[in-house]
Amino acid sequence: MRHHAHYDIAVVGAGYVGMPHARTFAEAGKKVVLIDLLQDVVDRINRGESHISDVPSEVLKPLVDDGRITATTDFGAVADADAVVIAVPTPLSPQREPDVSYIQRAARDIAPHLREGHLVVLESTTYPGTTRDVLRPLLEEGSGLKAGDGFHLAYAPERVDPGRTDYTTKTTPKVVGGIDEASTEAAAELYSAAVDEVVRVSSPEAAELTKLLENIFRSVNIALVNELARLCGRMQIDVWEVIDAAATKPFGFMSFKPGPGLGGHCIPIDPFYLTWKAREYDFTTEFIELAGKVNQSMPYYCRSLISQALNHGAGKSLAGSKVLIVGVSYKPDIGDMRESPALKIIELIRNAGADVSYHDPHVPELREQRLRSVELDPAAYDAVVIVTDHTSIDYDKLVEEANVVVDFRNATRRPRSEKVWKL
Ligand SMILES: NC(=O)c1ccc[n+]([C@@H]2O[C@H](COP(=O)([O-])OP(=O)(O)OC[C@H]3O[C@@H](n4cnc5c(N)ncnc54)[C@H](O)[C@@H]3O)[C@@H](O)[C@H]2O)c1
Repeated sequence: MRHHAHYDIAVVGAGYVGMPHARTFAEAGKKVVLIDLLQDVVDRINRGESHISDVPSEVLKPLVDDGRITATTDFGAVADADAVVIAVPTPLSPQREPDVSYIQRAARDIAPHLREGHLVVLESTTYPGTTRDVLRPLLEEGSGLKAGDGFHLAYAPERVDPGRTDYTTKTTPKVVGGIDEASTEAAAELYSAAVDEVVRVSSPEAAELTKLLENIFRSVNIALVNELARLCGRMQIDVWEVIDAAATKPFGFMSFKPGPGLGGHCIPIDPFYLTWKAREYDFTTEFIELAGKVNQSMPYYCRSLISQALNHGAGKSLAGSKVLIVGVSYKPDIGDMRESPALKIIELIRNAGADVSYHDPHVPELREQRLRSVELDPAAYDAVVIVTDHTSIDYDKLVEEANVVVDFRNATRRPRSEKVWKL
């Protein structure tokens, strides 16, 4: 027989979003059950071992020991919880179309355990209409209850930024939009218990689009400075200097940095959820497409920069050169490899005949590439390429010892020279 515990919240999906979420609620005194499909993820959590760096094991363990966080693969736990939060992946299919199958599967598994008065909140990033048109019918079908009358249903986007420490799930305002007023209020009440500020919007669609706007805003602005960086390359102007100078304007400007390409689970993927949905309305989202095109071309541009640096700085060609990539995760000081542009750059310069090694204190191994992080010995390579600017690395020393440096992040903070090539 199942042991019936009581939980305040069931969080479906114990990943980059679900884990910080569980922590925030648990620290606010709530009892949380994490439901995941993966037995080993569940077992590790129940031992107090975290697989998500934003929730270190030192933080997780006491919450697990206290019984405030529990994990299970059994969706029956939904029946023992007052509210259900869904934080499962929303990737793109190989044809770059939204893949909401994880949401659908979660909905089917949750539905039989729904009770009268339950609250279900979707947090996964997705196109406007998913909560109402995809999630709702599956929950209604499987539960025999109606959304609105029987259970509350809302969308509340997650804004977690892995590695960020100045804002947390607790201190980042939470946007909520229910399918009716009672649902919005129920969701607002849930989050108010753990989050400092809740922002109500009039519908799940408005909340869904809010999240997409936030990510599209980043993608478009990054594309803008990436394009500018390429022009600056031709005009021999230091784009980093220009951006830093523009950023001294106290209003009306926000600084975005160029780079070797987009990474992570969000910015390269989410905007295309809207592109896809817009087609249904005979609408082409041109800014999104253009930004995608510019950002996707960056690893190719970076390959040509590496090649030029070797030509002019060392009189060598990419073919046959020994190249050390420094930093391979998609952003500084974390080990997250999802969609990292370093992978593309490694592939491109390998195809051009370079002998590639990498150094990353956060990523011990790239299995698919059959590479292991090597010691940082810049002098042993024809070129050292900084793809991700981890703060633990001594860039002055790196420049001193290296033969040629190619810096895609302005980590070296030096003007371009024969030795230091920058984006
Ligand atoms: N990672 C971020 O920085 C971030 C930020 C904001 C929003 N989001 C969005 O949040 C959502 C979740 O992303 P994530 O990064 O946490 O993903 P993730 O891959 O880290 O975690 C998802 C977890 O859900 C589990 N899972 C998958 N299908 C399931 C199912 N049907 N039932 C139960 N568990 C299931 C997986 O095993 C995995 O442990 C996505 O929509 C993403 O776009 C992510």
